[in-house]
Amino acid sequence: MAEKQAHLNGASYGPPIPPPQHHHRPGRGSDCGCCCFLAFILKVVITVAMLIGLFILIIWLIFRPINKVEFHVTDVALTQFNYTNNMLQFNLAANISIRNPNKKIGIYYDRIEARAFYEDQRFGYHALTAFYQGHKNTSVLNVVFKGQQAVTLQGEELTQFNQERTSGLYSIALELSLRIRFKLGKVKTARFKPKVECDDLKIPLNGSPVAGISNNKCEIKF
Ligand SMILES: *[C@@H]1O[C@H](CO)[C@@H](O)[C@H](O)[C@H]1NC(C)=O
Ligand SMILES: *[C@@H]1O[C@H](CO)[C@@H](O)[C@H](O)[C@H]1NC(C)=O
Ligand SMILES: *[C@@H]1O[C@H](CO)[C@@H](O)[C@H](O)[C@H]1NC(C)=O
Repeated sequence: MAEKQAHLNGASYGPPIPPPQHHHRPGRGSDCGCCCFLAFILKVVITVAMLIGLFILIIWLIFRPINKVEFHVTDVALTQFNYTNNMLQFNLAANISIRNPNKKIGIYYDRIEARAFYEDQRFGYHALTAFYQGHKNTSVLNVVFKGQQAVTLQGEELTQFNQERTSGLYSIALELSLRIRFKLGKVKTARFKPKVECDDLKIPLNGSPVAGISNNKCEIKF
């Protein structure tokens, strides 16, 4: 019954072509409800896609190679690094420079947590004070790790520690956990939580700063 009705409706729109034997779209376009809803959904999807695109564009503008925010370990000073009885005594200071080369974008560093690792084990923690970095500016973080921490070095790790004690060059990794927002004109973006990893630093005990650092550029990971 319903199918017959549909055939009649369909025929009244177009030229009198013979109705197909089976399957026919009932009342095309005659009721808006379904189509309007689909159009609405489509609009929402397109809007969201555009927002995501804009968002990615902003991130790309900030972190593309030319205007990339860069982190470097500029100075280190290691004055104590003793490991005995599963206890590591350490005194490590480092300066990490942050270069924001962007002309229009400022950066809020709402949270900065620095951690130091030896053989993938965290031994140092230092929370730094939040600050705002203006455009085209360089800031320096003074990071200090001092104290003692229980760590367990076994097997190869212990072998490596003993080798490094002999050579006086320690393989230490630094990591910054950040919570940042960008400011573009008056617009502030949502929060991002990137990690900045300064791996494979070869830090000399009581050595001259920088001289011992082979690769002092840090990697940003979102
Ligand atoms: C870090 O920089 C400051 C000057 O800004 C300097 O006094 C300090 O010695 C540096 N730290 C290290 C570990 O070299
Ligand atoms: C740690 O090492 C330093 C030399 O780097 C040494 O003077 C000091 O006595 C050591 N401390 C301990 C507790 O072993
Ligand atoms: C950039 O940093 C310098 C200090 O290094 C400061 O005097 C200046 O006001 C900063 N500029 C902006 C735009 O924040």
